[in-house]
Amino acid sequence: MSLSISLAPIAILSALAEEQTGLLDALVDRREVVLGGRSYWCGELYGRPVVLALSRIGKVAAATTATALITHFGVRAVLFTGVAGGLAAGVRVGDVVVAEGLLQHDMDASPLFARYEVPLLGRAVFATDAELAQLLTRACALALGALALPGPRPSVHRGLVVSGDRFVSGTAEAATLVSDLQRAGYGPLAVEMEGAAVAQVCFDYGVPLALVRTISDRADDDAHHDFPAFVKDVASVYARSIVQLWLGLLPK
Ligand code: ADE
Repeated sequence: MSLSISLAPIAILSALAEEQTGLLDALVDRREVVLGGRSYWCGELYGRPVVLALSRIGKVAAATTATALITHFGVRAVLFTGVAGGLAAGVRVGDVVVAEGLLQHDMDASPLFARYEVPLLGRAVFATDAELAQLLTRACALALGALALPGPRPSVHRGLVVSGDRFVSGTAEAATLVSDLQRAGYGPLAVEMEGAAVAQVCFDYGVPLALVRTISDRADDDAHHDFPAFVKDVASVYARSIVQLWLGLLPK
């Protein structure tokens, strides 16, 4: 287990307030630290020391928040929970994606470097921690089994999540995004706006990362309608349940 036994807290990071509400309500002995215009909530969540933070939206916002969590709060691992647009066939609204790796789809320093490669790091994909991802997959399966959700039973997927500073809300745009990535050898499951930036920071500092995204839309022509409704009604319920189960599965 890459997560060493220590009293250092675990960071639970989300982009939007709606994704954090349920978790903040459950935080015991909570203490707010304001830093860089953000609130960091320290306390105990389901028996574990944690820091809850909102990154806000986009890669820069996510990277600065992740850096503060690691350098100021000394977290020993980061869990990102939030929503994403489904890209792969079969990744439907209400499904959950656990990231095995993250890539910045708007990184392009070609022809100096291969498209998507982060210059001077020699890689495009940043892997999440395999054991934390395994526990997260189990937590998601348990959570989806326990939540009484209308409609077909949601699936848990594992694979590549891509991030960029763009809300993808067009059927043609999503198709181009996928085909460009496939041409370069990548098969993305979902798109969001923060994860790969957090992954790069975690890589730089050697801090293990796990990331889960609930699919709020299909990144298509309806995405801008589906996204707000899903975030308001469902995202916090998923986040709270998955995080509770994941924290319970971590070694003591
Ligand atoms: N987060 C949720 N849905 C998204 C989309 N369609 N594009 C980018 N980020 C998202």
